Amino acid sequence: SSDELKSILQFITTVARKAGDLILEGSEAIQTTSSQETGVNEKKNSVDLVTEYDVRVEELIQRELKEKYPNFKFIGEESYSAGKRDPLTDEPTFCVDPIDGTTNFVHGIPWVCVSMGLIYERRPVIGLIYNPFLNHLYTGIKGQGAHLSRNNGEPRKLPLSSLPKPLLSLNGAVIAVEWGSDRNAASIDAKSLSFSRLAGDPEKGVALGKMAHSLRSLGSGALNCALVAQGAVDIYWEIGSWPWDVCAGIVLVQEAGGVVTGSHRTLESTISTDQFGDVTEAVLTGRKYLLIRGISDSQ
Ligand code: IPD
Repeated sequence: SSDELKSILQFITTVARKAGDLILEGSEAIQTTSSQETGVNEKKNSVDLVTEYDVRVEELIQRELKEKYPNFKFIGEESYSAGKRDPLTDEPTFCVDPIDGTTNFVHGIPWVCVSMGLIYERRPVIGLIYNPFLNHLYTGIKGQGAHLSRNNGEPRKLPLSSLPKPLLSLNGAVIAVEWGSDRNAASIDAKSLSFSRLAGDPEKGVALGKMAHSLRSLGSGALNCALVAQGAVDIYWEIGSWPWDVCAGIVLVQEAGGVVTGSHRTLESTISTDQFGDVTEAVLTGRKYLLIRGISDSQ
């Protein structure tokens, strides 16, 4: 029920704030430790990073959630990497990225968040994204809107700015794109091509005839979603996001009046996505790996 969802959100907010404190402590430790002792490890390649704090923050979150909601399932970035993952069923399932923006975290760039979603009947119904460095807390409940509280202030309804006209042109848009951690040639080529088309190289055939105001690669998929919900960014596009990168963000974007397209619709399928799309075509058709504000599927 909607009251149940509210009380779950209230509880996970307290957990996210504790996680945030540990992230801040970790950042301090990493920035003041010599590079040999930082506890930074590589996952699938030298740019796919995990720190001891990713693991510790996830353990803290999982412990608190299990204690309060022992029957809920749990999918977390770090437990998934360690081979422990509950299958996605219709049961309530938390989907957590303890530190989204790990590369930023390691380098001391304060654009990092904890991202916590709740999935019910295979659809995200609660989203929470918290950047402890800025004390920005984004929350959303399916059917009840999305909000942003800055510095513990009164939550403000999202989007903060009014929605633009249907986004049928790139003209004036700010687009968040990410390089991700897949750096094989096919992936990098597909991304570079899309980026240059978006940036407006006529030789590469800007499908929409206009160019975006700019592209941004800020380094956190979850915070990209939050910015789309806020209205600061018009589109977030990425190839190969993981469920925990976007689960909470999907609720925020949808509740703010935006549209989520591509395989993000079904969280399960984002796990092993390896398809590459052309983002300019996708802007027109509303398909593929996009989060768009101000355009609906039927347009
Ligand atoms: C990553 C970040 C990054 C995105 C990657 C994600 P992590 O998450 O969100 O911006 O490009 O696809 O996996 O590893 O920092 O939790």
